[in-house]
Amino acid sequence: MKTVIGILSEICGKAFSECGYDAALGAVCASDRPDICQFQCNGALSGAKIYRTAPIKIALAVAERLKDEKAFEKVETAMPGFINLTLDRAFLCEYLNAARADGKNGMPQMLAGKRIVVDYGGPNVAKPLHVGHLRSAIIGEAIKRIAKAAGADAVGDTHLGDWGLQMGLVITELKERHPEWRCFAPDFDPASDPIPAISAEELNEVYPCASAKSKTDAEYARSAHEATVLLQQKEPGYYALWQSFMKVSKADMKRIYDRLNVDFEYWYGESDAEDYVPELLETLEDGGLLEDSEGAKVVRVARESDDAPMPPVIIKKSDGSNIYATTDLATILQRRKLFAPDGIWYVVDKRQGLHFTQVFRCAEKAGLIESEKLCEHLGFGTMNGADGKPYKTREGGVMPLTVLLDNAYRKALESLDPAKFRTNEERERTADRLSVASVKFGDLINNRQKDYIFDIDRFLSAEGKTGAYLLYSVTRIGSLLAKAADAVPGALDPACPVTKAETDLMLTLASAGEYFVKAVEERAPNYIAEAAYQIASSFSGFYHDVRILSEEDGQKRRNRLALCAFTRAWMTCLLDLLAIETVDVM
Ligand code: ARG
Repeated sequence: MKTVIGILSEICGKAFSECGYDAALGAVCASDRPDICQFQCNGALSGAKIYRTAPIKIALAVAERLKDEKAFEKVETAMPGFINLTLDRAFLCEYLNAARADGKNGMPQMLAGKRIVVDYGGPNVAKPLHVGHLRSAIIGEAIKRIAKAAGADAVGDTHLGDWGLQMGLVITELKERHPEWRCFAPDFDPASDPIPAISAEELNEVYPCASAKSKTDAEYARSAHEATVLLQQKEPGYYALWQSFMKVSKADMKRIYDRLNVDFEYWYGESDAEDYVPELLETLEDGGLLEDSEGAKVVRVARESDDAPMPPVIIKKSDGSNIYATTDLATILQRRKLFAPDGIWYVVDKRQGLHFTQVFRCAEKAGLIESEKLCEHLGFGTMNGADGKPYKTREGGVMPLTVLLDNAYRKALESLDPAKFRTNEERERTADRLSVASVKFGDLINNRQKDYIFDIDRFLSAEGKTGAYLLYSVTRIGSLLAKAADAVPGALDPACPVTKAETDLMLTLASAGEYFVKAVEERAPNYIAEAAYQIASSFSGFYHDVRILSEEDGQKRRNRLALCAFTRAWMTCLLDLLAIETVDVM
């Protein structure tokens, strides 16, 4: 289904062309003077330059044609050549009814038939999830859902960091602590020897310890490198130990992602790309792209048009180990085989921009993809603390995600009045959803490229562009509909008289399609967050302006209740695109 602006632009385009002008001039936009009209078309102004005539002459001729269109209640011109448009009430109702009936709330199917792999989350095994991974998870989940809603067959893949140096560090540290473990013995037998169980706590403690040691102890660092290379060659003892702590780590991560309502279709890791490395190397070799550089193998990706230095991609280091770029290139091969995607979208910190430019260029050069445009790095900014610096604990350390979420939960719980809930569990469940909604909305309302300040007190405030305000709005509509006790009609009544506040709310609902288009085009969930907020705020105007439950006129009462139900449907749908769950009471 087209958006309202899409439909109006088509109608106006037809009128332009019937008057002998280019149909493209019929593009319509929302009015900058909502006090005068709802939409406007400025095509006569640009047309005047092409056709060398006065803009108002074109505007008057086109407006004359538009007057009979049943979409409009009013068509007016204004100097020097604006065409001002106000919708017919029945047209607006019917548009919304159709949008509701098609089950998609007016979201155009812009990606129908496309298969998209969304690479997000990107947690690293053994390292605890920290706030840097929070943005990738929140934004990536939203982008995946938006792509699905636009008709794409979109799948999420975490691209687990399970194969790099941090694995060698963990193995080295475990070996120091438990040299007696059978997996470290030269005659280790994977079929019969036991693999010790490691707890998630121990795993999360081992890595920072090993990482610190490797920075001051060169011998230790060398062992860790060696262990990494051996693991990558699947040395049986190391490999079995790795498999065992992978299980523990994944289960630990999954718990946090569940809490965030983030869900991946695939949990492939860097290790899964390993099988594709030989094919990658062969392709690069055959293409004559690999060059020796100080013992390492590299591919040059600089272009003449570059205005900043573009270093070559390192494919194999001098010690023979694969690195981040190699893995990402091999993963492109893997994804091409498994998914034949039309797009691979990487939701990763924008500071990794250079890495992705190198990888995409190399992939194109090697013919792994037809065009580097198939791959898109959807970068995001940093989550900062009140001091404007990357978010840290009070002691200045990296804050684990669980600590941040627990804090938010405690504050959310405090904000909920126990008297409103039947049971304590219900209050706790609500606090859980409220805290996650507030954290997510506080992030997603900002354009992903921007840095923002994490301020949980503000995010939990019942006023402003906050998750708390949105959840509250949904509960208010819910309790109103519950009180109505009558059967709420499934459609708006085009013949029912409406007030300005009702028209405004209908227009806001109809504009969600426009926000959705922008969100898809720019891969930017903030437009969805903004649309949800605009609807909540428009609903609030409507709620204060008209009588709903106490309305005596049956037709108006029914229509207003239908509008409430529509509002709730639109809001829950938009919040669902952001992976934000609503609550019943607050
Ligand atoms: N594990 C990486 C990190 O923590 C993020 C992975 C992003 N995805 C990718 N295909 N490189 O920085």
